[in-house]
Amino acid sequence: MTLDKLKTFKQRGEKITCLTAYDASFAKLFDECGVDMILVGDSLGNVIQGDKNTLNVSMEDMLYHTKIVAKGVQKALLIADMPYQSYTNSEQTLENAQRLMRIGAQMVKFEGGSEHKASFEILQANNIPVCGHLGLQPQSVIEMGGYKVQGRDDASAEKILADALLLESLGVSVLVLECVPAQLAAKISQQLSIPTIGIGAGVDCDGQVLVSYDMLGVNTQTVPKFVKNFLIDAGDVKSAIDAYIDEVKSQQFPTDQHSY
Ligand code: KIV
Repeated sequence: MTLDKLKTFKQRGEKITCLTAYDASFAKLFDECGVDMILVGDSLGNVIQGDKNTLNVSMEDMLYHTKIVAKGVQKALLIADMPYQSYTNSEQTLENAQRLMRIGAQMVKFEGGSEHKASFEILQANNIPVCGHLGLQPQSVIEMGGYKVQGRDDASAEKILADALLLESLGVSVLVLECVPAQLAAKISQQLSIPTIGIGAGVDCDGQVLVSYDMLGVNTQTVPKFVKNFLIDAGDVKSAIDAYIDEVKSQQFPTDQHSY
């Protein structure tokens, strides 16, 4: 998978599939099934480390999981999350992004908009592909007052749209939209030329991502409304992944029931 190919997917209306992975075996399975992008998410703080949020995930954790996931990936685009407090200024952002890229990531993702302008700029200047992340930002769960849908009122919807346009102008290649009303995500997806990847953001995003543990029904924490357990009907893990890919590509997932 290449950045050009992702853009072509958007232009021809083919939906992009993404799942999170934290180890080589799952990454290999997702890759062989044909998932377009694999994200080493800092959601590993929840699903691997058992914490209630992602704030304790360290750079060392992300480097370790990115390194082992990379061993399982041949075709998919491999994205690594930058953890909490690892991109507080542009120099730190560049150094940590370079560490992730050297270990096997092909793109780095971090949360936030205009407040990180200098970080986006330095990565663009150094040719490091970036995935943005707007809407619900789990690393800001305390400031956001919990895991809540973002962009419900006009002012916050406009701020998310303005940040999305800014990120595109700063060279961001892909944009994750988490927990925003489907109508807002559709509007953003229409206005951007880069692909949007939704999670709880409706079917009109250019692609979808889910935390793999969630879509396989392995949860110890509250399951958000946007999650679908694909294992129940599929019966085995490989069939569940195939079903996820089919349903995203054919726009059967997410339904209104999984959207806001
Ligand atoms: O950390 C993660 O898994 C993520 C996805 C939920 C988009 O950021």
